[in-house]
Amino acid sequence: MTIHLDMNGLFATAVGAEGLAADDLARLEPTLTRVRDALATRRTAGELAFAELPYRRDDVRSVQGAANGLATDFDTLVVLGIGGSALGARAVITALGDDAVGLDVVVADSIDPDSFGVMLARLDVKRTLFNVVSKSGETAETMAQFLVVRDRLLRELGAVDYKQHIIVTTDAQRGALRQIVNDEGFRALPIAAGVGGRFSVLSPVGLFPAAAAGVDVEELLAGAAHMDERCKTATSALDDPACVLGAALATLANERQKRVVVLMPYCERLGATADWFCQLWAESLGKGGSGQTPVRALGAADQHSQLQLWVDGPPDKVVLFVRVEDHGATVDLPTTYQDLESVGYLGGHSLAELLNAEQRATELALAKRGRPSATIVLPALGAFTLGQLLYLFEMATVAAGALVGVDPFGQPGVEESKHLAYGLMGRPGFEARRAEIEAWVARKDPRFII
Ligand code: PA5
Repeated sequence: MTIHLDMNGLFATAVGAEGLAADDLARLEPTLTRVRDALATRRTAGELAFAELPYRRDDVRSVQGAANGLATDFDTLVVLGIGGSALGARAVITALGDDAVGLDVVVADSIDPDSFGVMLARLDVKRTLFNVVSKSGETAETMAQFLVVRDRLLRELGAVDYKQHIIVTTDAQRGALRQIVNDEGFRALPIAAGVGGRFSVLSPVGLFPAAAAGVDVEELLAGAAHMDERCKTATSALDDPACVLGAALATLANERQKRVVVLMPYCERLGATADWFCQLWAESLGKGGSGQTPVRALGAADQHSQLQLWVDGPPDKVVLFVRVEDHGATVDLPTTYQDLESVGYLGGHSLAELLNAEQRATELALAKRGRPSATIVLPALGAFTLGQLLYLFEMATVAAGALVGVDPFGQPGVEESKHLAYGLMGRPGFEARRAEIEAWVARKDPRFII
């Protein structure tokens, strides 16, 4: 059950001058070899903590220990977190969650008072466990959610029982949330040092909600480790899938002006994985004026929404399809209306066949208009193949960063707006930011507010 990367549609042989020249990647081989060596060295020095997540047995034991037997006391798990502390869990649960086996898991990454309020109002809190997830332990959205939930639990369940309804996932040592855990005695799961939000899906951040949703987390990690082995043991950088994917997308962005990468799974269960990828690619590589805008799409629906633009609009995109060979579920199409050629031909096929035919057709339609695409092929969607896919994307992101000289970790551009919001909300130490934002609002010219 190994996943594959089909890059044929990226090359000039398929799409003409807008694609990669046959020797583009070969030309990059020495650079990519240096990139791989540098990443291996950083890994040995413990600087790529996320890359070791597939092997952290203690984390798996803690997660499984915390997830075992949850169904006795709870029907629902609500994950409170945002960004990388929410999207990975949602990706895995959407792809693999099975509420016949696990709990109903809701990832609540919203502070919209309407949707968050409605969600809370509908919950039976006596049968709900809340997983508060924050690496820093101080993200305003997550802490605000926590305050609201803690207050409600205290009121409804009392000062003794309410603690059983909260489990915190945060940095093993640092941050306000860790301090709260230590002071109040909530159950907690650790996020290893050096593992940041968007690279944390294979840590307890993603694993605990996944295990609660009935996902086989051992298989997920085994899939990630399988991809890691493939990348590490490839005899050349050009056989290392992550290196090649990162290099191809970076080269198309920088040398062929493909400033947009569309990720389009033909499998609805992978829709949230596309959202997760978008955050990973955008927040990791969008730095110092460089980056490639990720767009999430879903086959076949977006053929009837976005495809016109990709085929006929500005030639600034590369499309990355995800194709699942065996969709498992079969829905056969009845042989009806045989006298109507435009409908009757569907009979005798299945929905899965139609979906995969559409993917193939879209790939060629793009190629015929000189628009590059690649396809990641999953033999089937399962924990092992999803683990490979997640790890492939993470490593490709890091490789692309190394190639273009961007540090994929950290998000300095995001900090600014956080600090300004702290100022507006009255957080001590951010008074100057409040003044700054008040001055910005005061400078607005009423003539331009119509
Ligand atoms: O990927 C990231 O690092 C961010 O998206 C964070 O996950 C997000 O800002 C939430 O941060 P935290 O987990 O510290 O609450």
